[in-house]
Amino acid sequence: MKNFTVLIVNGPNLGHLGRRQPEIYGSRGMDDVPDMVAGLLGPDAARVRLEFFQSNGEGRIIDRLEQAWKDGVQGLVFNPGAYTHTSLAIADCLAWIRIPAIEVHLSNVWARTEKIRHESMVSPHCVGVISGLGIDGYGLAVLALWRRLSAACG
Ligand code: DQA
Repeated sequence: MKNFTVLIVNGPNLGHLGRRQPEIYGSRGMDDVPDMVAGLLGPDAARVRLEFFQSNGEGRIIDRLEQAWKDGVQGLVFNPGAYTHTSLAIADCLAWIRIPAIEVHLSNVWARTEKIRHESMVSPHCVGVISGLGIDGYGLAVLALWRRLSAACG
């Protein structure tokens, strides 16, 4: 069976998870994700290489996504933060690189009061969306990508 690389990208204001408004975003950080993936995938976790990237800059995120395309990264777990709701540039990038992506939000954006958080520029370019499960959402997204990628490879 094949091995896969999954890139986990966090956008602006997601570099201090655990400390940023824990009442909204939870008290756990990205450090928890590898163990979570190991627990969810069991022995198959050895077949998934995780890469992590965080940036507050729209252009830097697009550069990293383009690099992932060049590198042949097979799956993307993507929390674009506030760019979710505003960035046509990031949406355009996802539209052409066509790496299977799962959009993740720590908070349940639909339960939040600001209407703009109910809109996503990136969802149309993602295979699925996980919102409101905190850090668990990242592990579950990796599990879903693994199932999809390994099924596609037979
Ligand atoms: C977020 C939700 C966005 O609306 C917000 O701008 C963020 C974080 C989330 O993970 O819940 O920065 O993407």
